Amino acid sequence: MIRSLCFPLVWLAGLPLSLAQTSLSLSAQSKASNAGVSSPLDASFAGFGIEPSNLFSFTGGDDANDFSVQMMQNLADYSGAPPHIRLGGNTQDYMVFDSSYNDYAWKNNPQSSAQGAIAADSMVIGPSYFKALDRFPKDTPITYGLNLAYEDSDYVDRIVATAQAAVDGMQNVKLYSFEIGNEPDLYLQNQFRSGSWDGQTYTEQFLDRADAVYQQVLKPAGLSATFFEPPATASTIGTTFEIEMLVQDGLTDEKNGNKYVGWWNQHDYFYFIGVTPQSLTLDDLMDLDGTNTQFAYWEKQVGIGLDTGLPYVLREMSSVGPIGMHGVSDVFGAALWTLNFFCYTASLNISSVQMHMTDNSNASAWQPISMYGRDPFVRPQYYAHAAMAQIVGNGNSTTQIGSLAVSSVTGEYKGRIRAYTAYANGDLQSVILINSMQANASDGNKGSFTFNLNLGSSNKNKNVYLSTLTADGADSESGILWNGITFADGSGKASVSDSSVTMKRTDGSGKVSISVRDSQAVVANINWLLGSNAVLKGDGSTTEGARKKSTAGPTATGGAGTAAWTGAVTTTLALASSVTGGGSAEETAASGQRGEAPPRRMGLRALMVCLVAVMIAFVCFA
Ligand SMILES: *[C@@H]1O[C@H](CO)[C@@H](O)[C@H](O)[C@H]1NC(C)=O
Ligand SMILES: *[C@@H]1O[C@H](CO)[C@@H](O)[C@H](O)[C@H]1NC(C)=O
Ligand SMILES: *[C@@H]1O[C@H](CO)[C@@H](O)[C@H](O)[C@H]1NC(C)=O
Ligand SMILES: *[C@@H]1O[C@H](CO)[C@@H](O)[C@H](O)[C@H]1NC(C)=O
Repeated sequence: MIRSLCFPLVWLAGLPLSLAQTSLSLSAQSKASNAGVSSPLDASFAGFGIEPSNLFSFTGGDDANDFSVQMMQNLADYSGAPPHIRLGGNTQDYMVFDSSYNDYAWKNNPQSSAQGAIAADSMVIGPSYFKALDRFPKDTPITYGLNLAYEDSDYVDRIVATAQAAVDGMQNVKLYSFEIGNEPDLYLQNQFRSGSWDGQTYTEQFLDRADAVYQQVLKPAGLSATFFEPPATASTIGTTFEIEMLVQDGLTDEKNGNKYVGWWNQHDYFYFIGVTPQSLTLDDLMDLDGTNTQFAYWEKQVGIGLDTGLPYVLREMSSVGPIGMHGVSDVFGAALWTLNFFCYTASLNISSVQMHMTDNSNASAWQPISMYGRDPFVRPQYYAHAAMAQIVGNGNSTTQIGSLAVSSVTGEYKGRIRAYTAYANGDLQSVILINSMQANASDGNKGSFTFNLNLGSSNKNKNVYLSTLTADGADSESGILWNGITFADGSGKASVSDSSVTMKRTDGSGKVSISVRDSQAVVANINWLLGSNAVLKGDGSTTEGARKKSTAGPTATGGAGTAAWTGAVTTTLALASSVTGGGSAEETAASGQRGEAPPRRMGLRALMVCLVAVMIAFVCFA
């Protein structure tokens, strides 16, 4: 090759600095046994919490809410089991059961006499409460929240009656566990208790009720004594309700020869309006480092909980509590946050996560009834549940999640890049790539980030199929796509609205480069398209699973021999798409060196240089 043609390559010397800002090299272990990954995920892992007072909004009253049922069924088809439901929240501590009340509704208790800022017996439910719940898909696991706040002299009869109704009433869905009391750490504030109330008194009252429910309800029904999930706390920071303290208080000890505690159950929200002091924007939510910061204390609690030998479940969680934030929790950026949160918590060995729903919350995955002048509809967040369900189902109950180190990402992509691995049958199966850089729908020149993946030599020369979680932008409220699928507002039915299949191929050493647009996530699955296989259910049968067959044929190129070239083009195109004119290449490089205003927008001149350089590089090295 003549020297003069190759000369412009020298110009490239100044470029890697800016290119380094938009790419990252990652190696994934091909075997789970070498990788430090989670335990296998339960098919019901990514579930929902439903506020008890809102149950009928979700299930329907006299008539079933087919939309909600379909929203549950979609996820069951993808993962192999319906999402885990926690029926609990503040209102579980207001409810008493009356077997003679048969409406598909709850009513105010005309004889309310109990204590509390809102009385601990202010709401009455009857048998139809469980008939409504039973409309959810077969074997939907239910954690049911019993009332601990109520403490009138007949409290044992009351809690036993409700527990009995739950056991008798759940015929189609599956009673999985009981909570006793919602957020007892707040009982002094909401006037459910006065005087000395702490982790120790809670422990005594919890065990007293667990024992009564077991002896009178669970034992006669042939159910296990290890059926209860304490402490269901809001926040234990600075309280006497920390797991270690409760263990010290005897919460996990046997009572009358029985071990009642089966799980550690805690609650959290990324942000809670009126509690979290600082303000919140969508961009803040999408800074995923914020999740780690906010969850740092909880990571320790998870570890302490697991060390006691019991699983840890996060039964009440949300991006924004108590009822979301329009423009933040109900736009596409929240879906990226949610997918990251599921992968992150899975990698910590949290064994179940319930995203809390009320009928009026803009953080609920779907709006089940007409509200705010809008008919029932699907929120973007639901698409993250669909993605996670397919990731889990893809491994037939052997899926294990690991996280890849992204801490070397600096500059403006810091906090915006996450990468996780998913293993099936102990082997690397997919890589989950998240780029949460905020790009709005109106932004016509979105940037992208390139993940240079090394999937190991055992994955050399393999097809990798890409499933994308996308929308026009982070601020989009609709038009969301997961793996080409959309879910219809009002019916919840899934349909494939983009049947194109994007495939790449690893090179002779197992490497592949994948570019992810700002405000997008991609799951790269080895050998087949996610969701194209049947999914094994617990009973050995399979769900229809397949929403999308990979028979349409690949539309993306990327043979092993052209991998380097493809990578170069991908990077170039990524740069091209972020061009908005303005600063020169020199200025860009300089600001990059100072570590400020990272070079997201490159000048047209720089782009030309880049394009020419890549073309020449191709000619030179071909
Ligand atoms: C998760 O649990 C598995 C199996 O017990 C263990 O090997 C792994 O180290 C745990 N991971 C974390 C982050 O605790
Ligand atoms: C929820 O979002 C809707 C728009 O869909 C808005 O009208 C309503 O005010 C929001 N509600 C709350 C409580 O923020
Ligand atoms: C899961 O099970 C289905 C149905 O038996 C099968 O087609 C698929 O290959 C299995 N997937 C894995 C990763 O083993
Ligand atoms: C996206 O839109 C929000 C709200 O309109 C705005 O505050 C933000 O600056 C925009 N972000 C970008 C990257 O354009």
